[in-house]
Amino acid sequence: MNSNLRAVRGDVNADGPAPTFGRSAGLHRPATAGESAPVSARIVPACPPAIERAARLLRAGKLVAFPTETVYGLGADATDERAVAAIFAAKGRPRFNPLILHVPGLAEAEPLAVFDTRARALAAHFWPGPLSLVLPRRADSGLSLLAGAGLDTVAIRAPAHPVAQALLRGAGRPIAAPSANRSGRVSPTEAGHVVAELGDQVALILDGGRTPVGLESTVLDLTGATPALLRPGGVTLEELAAVLGPIAAAPTGPPRSPGLLASHYAPSLPLRLEATDARPGEALLAFGPDAPSGFAEVLWLSYNGDLAEAAANLFAMLRRLDRAPFTGIAVAPIPEHGLGRAINDRLRRAATPRPVR
Ligand code: TXA
Ligand code: MG
Repeated sequence: MNSNLRAVRGDVNADGPAPTFGRSAGLHRPATAGESAPVSARIVPACPPAIERAARLLRAGKLVAFPTETVYGLGADATDERAVAAIFAAKGRPRFNPLILHVPGLAEAEPLAVFDTRARALAAHFWPGPLSLVLPRRADSGLSLLAGAGLDTVAIRAPAHPVAQALLRGAGRPIAAPSANRSGRVSPTEAGHVVAELGDQVALILDGGRTPVGLESTVLDLTGATPALLRPGGVTLEELAAVLGPIAAAPTGPPRSPGLLASHYAPSLPLRLEATDARPGEALLAFGPDAPSGFAEVLWLSYNGDLAEAAANLFAMLRRLDRAPFTGIAVAPIPEHGLGRAINDRLRRAATPRPVR
């Protein structure tokens, strides 16, 4: 191994427990690489009294960031038009991009959307869990029109994370929650990432440690005759097909999921995929034990070639390498099956040059 190569094992627990930055409001900490300025935010460990406080804030129309099993979400009451507008403003999100609704389970989802046999079967199988279903919105759902970006469908899911479950039950209403990052950037998998992304634009950040899945939910469109995979994610295509039979690949043409623009989830440094050799100044995200030498730094997505471990590490490691003095981030080839499909989807978007804004 190259002597000036600093290798870091890609173990999710390598750094010890997830950081907790403070207990009360108005915390200040110095900016680190990738953060533009000192931030202040209300970040609290997700203990029951904090979850109760967060639920009260949601009911009062405030924004709360909370952990789900996939990534941290930026939540607002989905029946409150002003609260939903605040999500779009905080993220700098285009208003044509609809939000996913979060509910504790099927009972709370049925009044919002029309569930057919397939949708019920999928909910029974995968909820709570990382699967969002796109379904016809009920006319009397009471949902903010802005949350659905004016569409007559809704994307809805029941997250499995115990903090998300407790919060949703406490709030007692559907919660719209996109990933808690600024629009177009990598999703947060730790509470500290939310601080770096959104700072004090959030009333409260519930810190529940690192999110175990690490990639966003799978988005499956059930509004047509054949189910269509709009976004590969935490539930794999293979798992869905075992319950549903044939699934259409992501449709071509204008995106049916408005958030699925080609460039998304992007770090600042250029990303080079399927890398098998080093280029000067690049850092490497390695997968499997045989990492090529010559990189300025190497982080292992998974030393053992475990796709679930790689998914859990992906966004946090992209953030860690997205800084000077590196000239770019190279990524080793990742197999295109199971969770590898979702990992490669995010990597391809992150590697796509961004339009000039
Ligand atoms: O894992 C997740 O899904 C996370 C956590 C917080 O739950 N949330 C998340 O939300 O990733 P967001 O807003 O970052 O991504 C939602 C995606 C977007 O691509 C959006 O276009 C799509 O879901 N979507 C939402 N409603 C839709 C609809 N009615 N039809 C088609 N796509 C929809
Ligand atoms: Mg997102």
